[in-house]
Amino acid sequence: MFRSLVISSTLVSFSSIASGAFSPTTRAASEAFPFSPGFDIEAVTEKAVSLPSHSWEYGTATEALLELYDAEHSVFGRPFPIPTIQPQDSRSLTYAKEKIVIGTGANALSDGDGAVSDPASLGVGALMLGKTNQTYSAAAKEQADFIIDEAPRWFNGAISHRVSVTELW
Ligand SMILES: *[C@@H]1O[C@H](CO)[C@@H](O)[C@H](O)[C@H]1NC(C)=O
Repeated sequence: MFRSLVISSTLVSFSSIASGAFSPTTRAASEAFPFSPGFDIEAVTEKAVSLPSHSWEYGTATEALLELYDAEHSVFGRPFPIPTIQPQDSRSLTYAKEKIVIGTGANALSDGDGAVSDPASLGVGALMLGKTNQTYSAAAKEQADFIIDEAPRWFNGAISHRVSVTELW
């Protein structure tokens, strides 16, 4: 469900223009909400925020919120140089900060339950949070270092999705 949400929110983000600073107290609507791709974007957004319970779902929701509310800073906008945004001014970063549980190695950004790449889905949020709090950039680096230097590899160099066995997903 959440993987398809990302695709849907990506489509609508092209027609949305982020309205600047987001304040949780006023909860500005995404400029995508008035559009109708065949479902209620705002209702789906609230489900995407309330339902996740796994690291990759948190990461996917973080990305979707970024595309909906801060589209110009998403990977489909102009993400570099990484902007300095106070977490409370971004619904995506507020959410990511709530969900990231800093650990070590494969679990540096969240408990991945044996997955290499699931916690890494919080990487964009962690890098952006890292602009205002170095703890998050250090955790993002630890996650990336595990993926690049320690995760099992297939014979052709492809990075395994699982920590304990080599599996390509
Ligand atoms: C940075 O984030 C960490 C993890 O949430 C937190 O423990 C720490 O207090 C924060 N540091 C500052 C300066 O806000």
